[in-house]
Parts: sequence; structure tokens; C-alpha cells
Amino acid sequence: MSSTPWWRDAVIYQVYPRSFADGSGDGMGDIAGIRSRLPYLAELGVDAIWISPWYPSPQVDAGYDVADFRDIEPAFGTLADAEALLTESAAHGIKVILDIVPNHTSDQHAWFQAALAAAPGSPERARYVFRPGRGPNGDEPPTDWPSAFGGSAWKRLPDGDWYLHLFAPEQPDLNWENPEVRAEFEDILRFWFDRGVAGFRIDVANGLVKDQAFPDNPPGWRPPEEPPFDMGHPAWDQEGVHEIYRAWRRVGDSYDDPRIFVGEVWVSPLTRLARYLRPDELHTAFNFDFLIAPWDAAVFRTVIDETISALGTVGAPPTWVLSNHDVIRVVTRYGRPAGRHLAPAGSVSVDLELGLRRARAGALLSTALPGGVYVYQGEELGLPEVEDLPEEVLQDPTWEQSGHTRRGRDGCRVPLPWSGSEPPFGFSGAAGGATWLPQPESWKTLTAEAESGDSASTLELYSAALRIRRAEPALGDGTLTWLPSPDGVLSFSRDPGFTCVVNLSADPVELPEHTEVLLASGPLGTDGRLPADQAVWLRTR
Ligand code: NOJ
Repeated sequence: MSSTPWWRDAVIYQVYPRSFADGSGDGMGDIAGIRSRLPYLAELGVDAIWISPWYPSPQVDAGYDVADFRDIEPAFGTLADAEALLTESAAHGIKVILDIVPNHTSDQHAWFQAALAAAPGSPERARYVFRPGRGPNGDEPPTDWPSAFGGSAWKRLPDGDWYLHLFAPEQPDLNWENPEVRAEFEDILRFWFDRGVAGFRIDVANGLVKDQAFPDNPPGWRPPEEPPFDMGHPAWDQEGVHEIYRAWRRVGDSYDDPRIFVGEVWVSPLTRLARYLRPDELHTAFNFDFLIAPWDAAVFRTVIDETISALGTVGAPPTWVLSNHDVIRVVTRYGRPAGRHLAPAGSVSVDLELGLRRARAGALLSTALPGGVYVYQGEELGLPEVEDLPEEVLQDPTWEQSGHTRRGRDGCRVPLPWSGSEPPFGFSGAAGGATWLPQPESWKTLTAEAESGDSASTLELYSAALRIRRAEPALGDGTLTWLPSPDGVLSFSRDPGFTCVVNLSADPVELPEHTEVLLASGPLGTDGRLPADQAVWLRTR
């Protein structure tokens, strides 16, 4: 029996509830849908699922605008459904991580409604970030800070007071200087931990505390519209945020089986990220430097080395992330020219066949590296970004808030194709109608049903990788040793007796000495060499 804590090398699968599976037949995913697909997730071999927000919400930002942190969005089910899901997941050996959104609430949250009804300077307003305006009659916003979705981060109420929203105006920022806010969130953590939740993914984990002098944007600072969202700004990555996580860690550690935290922390360099992962703070964080890296061996090698070294200083395990619900799907990114891999949807030509080959190789790279892995739903099917969604179906608030200049993130949120040969591809069961975002016809070859049992499919590649990863003592937590390799090739060994080779060069490469090919992301050449844009796992003992 290994003594490694489970979270140090877990494979965690992100469920985006509205797009995972629909049990009610309304075209929108829900908890019944997730429950019905637990056998699929168990078969795939994941250790845990992270469920994006499932709380009551007006859905202005797809659930990241939470109206009540202790209940379930009626479109997704009930609290009893959530409890049943927790019990059934445990029976499948799958842990459940929820998503907590502590930077802001929905404007429909009881606290914000009370703040609106109360006067400027009242205790109700003190739970949020209200400030007087500047200029004649306070007509100008308190600072020039931008919202991440476009426009100003401040909105004025009819009584003249301004409130901060780093995201949509319907997502007012909470005031983390207020002890009542801190106590409330610790209580919310306990509410879900008491129901068996294994941990939380923390939304916008580097944003909670703001510089209380409220200075303007730093000189020369420009709001990032694409990743990396490395802020360097008085609203982000402030020292005071660490004390919040020390308190949360104490809550998580107070349980017999300690609960864990993974931070969404867009900061750089990685040494800055490591500060969130000190032994008394968060357990892990998403590795966004890895996620945004182009398909380039030198870049990957630097990111891998810097990750291992920076996180090693605080004893935290690295994590490897290829995609999530906020970024262009990996098949599409890797199918674009390297410098333009993060450009807005539809703006760059893409070779999806090449992208898929690389994404499959990327899957073997990320699951062979030391530490934990995140898989975003549909990544295991090799789904591409849907880049041609008609404008009238776009729902990401970015589209409206940017004045129709940024299409937003809907293209990676299209409901999963499960079975059958036409939309809705079994997403809503037999009776289901149109899905909340339309699925492309071309997904008929990418359904879970079509891929299941096909040894050449991405689904079978992922299941094989996760099965081998569990069985091989060399994989998971630990260290790696780089092996000599030609330019453009990543080759590393892990003890005992395992080597991974990823060919990011344009030419086939010889394999190092080995006793067995454990898994390959595509067929090896007839000469036994590893073709370009492919990866292989070798046994060497
Ligand atoms: C990060 C989430 O991943 C994203 O989807 C959301 O829009 C923002 N945080 C605001 O909550």
C-alpha cells in the first residue's frame, strides 16, 4: 500500500455540469446525467471528479455567479440528488471536488440584495466592495480597473455608490477585509465537507484581497485579453490572500480524512505560484504555464523544469493541465501555428488532424510526468474547439460585455457527444432535443460509444494510459531524469524502469533501449522509430 496522499498524483476529471450529460431531457446537463455516467468515469480510471459550480445561479457566467452556496441549481437537481451523487461516486471509488467561488457572488445572492436595499456605509454594503466615485459629483469610477470580461470593473447604483465587479456586473466582488465574509466561507466549506466532499477547487484564488489604497492600474499596465492572465495589479495576488488559505487549510485538516484545496491561481512566475502551496496553505494549483505552452520541446522542457523546481521548494506536487472550460480545446490549439495557438476562436487556420496527433502525445506526456493530472471533459474523446458557433447562440458574458469584439469561451463548452450518429448524440438520453449549444454533425465519429472498444481511439488511449499509470510504480508522484535526446525531442526516465519519449521534431526518432512498448500515441514506423508528433511509453527493465 502506497503512503502517498491521494491528491499528490491524482487524475482529476473536470465535469462541467451543463455540458456533461443531461438526465432530464431539457438539453442542459444535470446531476442525474452525471450519476448516469459514473460507470463511464470509473471505467476511464479517474481518481476524482471536480464539478464546476452547481449551486443556484442566474447563470450569467454559467454558474460562476452563485446565488446560494449551500444548495443546488434547480436546473441541475436538488440537494438530495447531490448527496446521492456523493454516495454513488464513493461506491465507484471516485472522490468529488466542488468548485467554490469566493471572490464574488451573484447579484441575486441574499447578501447583495440586502446591500442594494441598505444605505451607503451600512453593514450590508460592507460585505462587498462599495466605494464613492471620483470627480465632480462622484461621477467617475473609484479606480480605472477593468473587468476581465471587458469595460470598467465598477458599476454605479442610483444612490451614487459604486461597487466592484472584476467579472460581470452581476458578479459583485466580496470584501474579504470583513470578518463576516471569512466566517461565512469557512462555514460553507464545512457544509460540504460534512456531506463527504473531498475538497474544493478555488475560483479566482489570487483575486480575493485588494490593495486597500485602491490605486489606479500600474503605469503602462494593459488588461490581458488572452492567457496568461498574469495580473501584476492591485486587485490581484495581494499578500493578504495567504492568511485566508491558512485558515481554510485548518478547516480541511480538522477532518479525519483531511480535505484538499486546488487553486485557480493565474500568476507568474511559477515561484509566485509556489507561495500559495506552502505546507500550511493550498495543496495544489493548476499549472497554467504548461497549459498555455505551444507545441515546442524547448518551451515544454523549461516549463517542466521550472514547475518541478519551484513547487519542490515548498514540497508541493506539480500538476499538468491541458485544458479547461476557459481555454481553447487542446486539439485545436496544437493544430494551430505555435505563436497563434491561443488566439481567439476562428481567427487562425487549424489542422485538426495534426492537432489531434499532438494532443494524444500531450496526453501521454502529462500522465507520465511526476505529480497530478487534470482532464477536462471531452479531452479524452479528442474533441476540438467548436469555432463556428453562430453569434446568436453565444452565451459567454464576454461576448456582450466586450461589445461583440470577443466571442468568449463557448466553443470549449459544447455538450459532450455520447452515442448515436446525429445531435444530440445521446447527450439528453433517447427523448432529448436540442442541446443548449449546438453540437457539430462531425462529432459522430467522436462519441464515447464510437470510440469505446476502438483501440485506435483517443478514449482507449486515455483509459490505457490511466490503467498503466495506476499499475506502474514509476508513475505518479516522484521525480524524473532527462535522457539525452535529439533537438525537438523530450525523453525522460522514471524509476523503476520506465521511459517516456515525445517527438516534437519534424522527423522520426530512434527509441532508446527498452524491453517493451507499454503504450504509444500512434503507430510506430515500420522501422520501429517514433514518428513526429507522437509519444511512447517504454518499459526498460
Ligand atoms: C474562473 C472560471 O474558471 C471562469 O469560468 C469564470 O468566468 C471566472 N473565474 C469568474 O468566476
